[in-house]
Amino acid sequence: MPHLSRSDELVFFVNGRKVLERNADLEVTLLTFLRKNLRLTGTKYACGRGGCGACTVMVSKHDPVSRKIRHFSVTACLVPICSLYGAAVTTVEGVGSIKTRLHPVQDGRHFPEISDRFLSALEDFPATVPQGVQRYQSVDSHQALQDPVGRPIMHLSGLKHATGEAIFCDDIPMVDKELLMALVTSTRAHAKIISVDLSKALELPGVVDVITAEDIPGTNGAEDDKLLAVDKVLCVGQIVCAVVAETEAQAKRAVEETKIAYEDLEPVIFTIEDAIKHSSFLCPEKKLEQGNVEKAFEEVDQIVEGEVHVGGQEHIYGNTGVLVIPKTEDKELDIYVSTQDPAHVQKTVSSTLNIPINRITCHVKRVGGGFGGKVGRPAVLGAIAAVGANKTGYPIRLVLDREDDMLITGGRHPLFGKYKVGFMNSGRIRALDIECFINGGCTLDDSELVTEFLILKMENAYKIRNLRFRGRACMTNLPSNTAFRGFGFPQGTLVTESCITAVAAKCGLLPEKVREKNMYKTVDKTIYKQAFNPEPLIRCWNECLDKSSFHSRRMQVAEFNKKNYWRKRGLAVVPMKFSVGFAATSFHQAAALVHIYTDGSVLVTHGGNELGQGIHTKMLQKAEVEKSPHVQTLLGQGQGFWTAVAVETPVASRELKVPMSHMHICETSTATVPNTIATAASIGSDVNGRAVQNACQILLKRLEPIIKKNPEGTWEDWIEAAFEQRISLSATGYFRGYEAFMDWEKGEGDPFPYYVYGAASSEVEVDCLTGAHKKIRTDIVMDACCSLNPAIDIGQIEGSFTQGMGLYTTEELKYFPEGVLYSRGPDDYKIPTITDVPEEFNVSLLPSSQTPLTIYSSKGLGESGMFLGSSVFFAIADAVATARRERDIAEDFTVRSPATPERVRMACADRFTEMQHRRPCISAKSPGMLLPLRLTPTDCPGHASDAGHLPRSVPLGWPGPESSSPPPQELLLGLVWPGGPCLAPPSSTRDAVTAESTPKA
Ligand code: FES
Repeated sequence: MPHLSRSDELVFFVNGRKVLERNADLEVTLLTFLRKNLRLTGTKYACGRGGCGACTVMVSKHDPVSRKIRHFSVTACLVPICSLYGAAVTTVEGVGSIKTRLHPVQDGRHFPEISDRFLSALEDFPATVPQGVQRYQSVDSHQALQDPVGRPIMHLSGLKHATGEAIFCDDIPMVDKELLMALVTSTRAHAKIISVDLSKALELPGVVDVITAEDIPGTNGAEDDKLLAVDKVLCVGQIVCAVVAETEAQAKRAVEETKIAYEDLEPVIFTIEDAIKHSSFLCPEKKLEQGNVEKAFEEVDQIVEGEVHVGGQEHIYGNTGVLVIPKTEDKELDIYVSTQDPAHVQKTVSSTLNIPINRITCHVKRVGGGFGGKVGRPAVLGAIAAVGANKTGYPIRLVLDREDDMLITGGRHPLFGKYKVGFMNSGRIRALDIECFINGGCTLDDSELVTEFLILKMENAYKIRNLRFRGRACMTNLPSNTAFRGFGFPQGTLVTESCITAVAAKCGLLPEKVREKNMYKTVDKTIYKQAFNPEPLIRCWNECLDKSSFHSRRMQVAEFNKKNYWRKRGLAVVPMKFSVGFAATSFHQAAALVHIYTDGSVLVTHGGNELGQGIHTKMLQKAEVEKSPHVQTLLGQGQGFWTAVAVETPVASRELKVPMSHMHICETSTATVPNTIATAASIGSDVNGRAVQNACQILLKRLEPIIKKNPEGTWEDWIEAAFEQRISLSATGYFRGYEAFMDWEKGEGDPFPYYVYGAASSEVEVDCLTGAHKKIRTDIVMDACCSLNPAIDIGQIEGSFTQGMGLYTTEELKYFPEGVLYSRGPDDYKIPTITDVPEEFNVSLLPSSQTPLTIYSSKGLGESGMFLGSSVFFAIADAVATARRERDIAEDFTVRSPATPERVRMACADRFTEMQHRRPCISAKSPGMLLPLRLTPTDCPGHASDAGHLPRSVPLGWPGPESSSPPPQELLLGLVWPGGPCLAPPSSTRDAVTAESTPKA
């Protein structure tokens, strides 16, 4: 490290190169400097709060005392560049690149030896590094080696993701005269806008303009869902106007200087319970019914009624940006946007600007995760940015930071379900009546569709003759909730599975026995009369029990529990029947465009978007696969360490028989493939693969006479000849898919093309004193039929399972009493990390399964695995039930998700939790919400009667409400309130705890 003298120049080093910055801005962080000034975009912005690690770099500094160089990792979003004088920074680009050489840590195929002295870095992790086995079916031995279909090929962009070379929307370099946009959002949940004062904001340096609804030349969204608020706001976070400035910092400063005067309106509704009270709904009730439910209830041995709460979930995708570039002629616009539905962005911008769709081109290179959150919202952001571009005439970049994205865009619908289940003492369920309400937020968005899917899918794997499902979407003053992986299935099915566990508890049976007893066994019809064959479901279930040695582990778990009072293990297995696709015919179509150029190279374009799910890899997959072992050992959380070299497409290359070195996919663009449908509902590869197949077959047919004439020729010879003979070398492929229908009047339909089946078992160990748990083992068996690419499909299963685990166990949304989202970053909102992966994690694809409906008999697996994460939730519930049984308190307890440590701790009732119950508490009438706090020691209604009520942890040092000292600020703000749906004992059980507060141990 060279000696550096102190001066007003900031000198440091990045990836070995000297950086000299004069007049360094005190406010500029290392992350901003790397991305904007040095164009090192491999270091990502994801939260800006030091909570996620996406911006981690290595900083090396000279320690003058020890005279040694010290290396440490820092989150670049928190480090001002001014603090780096004399330091050396290494970013992901400085570690290795595809062009030069990958570092072992970037290449999942090789793991560096970690010497013992560095293993202490893993001390907080589970005791062992997660490992597991991935099993899939090998391709037919007669399949040509070059034919890639069914082979486990690594994601095409995987290495580029690891080296930071993959370009996302916000990584696009600044364009000439580009301006930055920041959004001004409502601070009131329901209010009239009295005035908007922009004067101070407009006076600030660098501010170019403020865009309001008056600047929209066309339509300002829908009547009840405006792009920019006019007259009134319906939630905190609703977009009112947008500032355009030369820099991001200037735009944000101007946002703070925009003054909006409000007049609050009534009612203000945040919770499902309040929405029901006010009859505040977004759409009519959806209902399905079969058999005679009332009569069946009269004939059963027992009836149980209960409630289930499932919390909402944030998408936490990456890449929240949009860049709009106005062209100089004919009102043309180029929009680079991170979306699952570019055609929707294009259409929305067209109607907002009142220009024809053909002037607007949307480009999507890669999305950086969507999970449903980028189906509808990017169109709103794209349209507002386009209004800015239209008004100013300059390119506009709009990138939401994590806090704003979480505040504005909504997420998964929280659910409140009430059930009544009638059953025989044998565990056979004769009647089931479920009524569900979801919190849709302030506008309709996808809430009606989510309600429909919830009702259609809620029966899951069970044949119950007398069945009634009802669902409604509540309108509240929260940001509108939207599509999310699974589309209601993960929430609704938790209600159904909770009924099963309640029945098992009442009958004194193991839940898996009750599940098995009530499962579909033979060819049958669903509640909406769609015929299906459950054979793969039964096979998944049996294989899962078998592969996980479930029954013998039941005994081991019981043995462990006998020996440990404060630690309990739990085991659960859940079956799954998941319907794939949209319940609307027009969504089952796709198009593709394949060009062959005169040098023989092929450009493939299709209507699907690369969300990270590997759709482009499946369309353009490598062919010459090194001998992959049949079973791969999974180390860490990585999702595929198969090795492969060069290339062919499973769809295009199987059809054209062209080496992949000739093939390329550039981007998804509305100019090449128009009128696309959203990449969602797990059918992206199905429908787009068929369209690519169709285009390739058309081209091959045209080439056939030439090939026949010169069978020994090369691909290049044939293309040259075709060009000479004036044969078109470009073809559009089209797929006209499945005809779906659903008659809600009759409660009948054929809404889905096919089902994905699966089963998952999980074992956990719960610390009854802290409520924390560790995941010991998970086994998943999934019916993927003939997987196009087992590496990608197993990655999807693992990823969705992990996201499901987050939904059911850690991800908890908290609000301030005024309806402001409190949890707005990974420091307040816990998504799963590597340490949450089960210590043993095995995934198997069910062998010898076929479907005639999809390309090469493969199945879409994008969403289904979410629900399998509930096996962890039910394993926790199993452990808690064991603890409660041992303490002689009621074994059944209110099922609330997520099962956070606080809730698990309280559910493991003992003398310590009872001490908590005796403490003063705060009324939280509804799960998921922090309501205005009233500290009333003599009047504590929640404590006495509200089953959703939990006593909160009173911070140490505050004696309680009877004390003369004021309560701490964080208590008043509700920041320490556990809140939200929880795994908590109902009030009757608490009474029991009061009576029997001393544990027997
Ligand atoms: S962006 Fe820096 S830690 Fe998340």
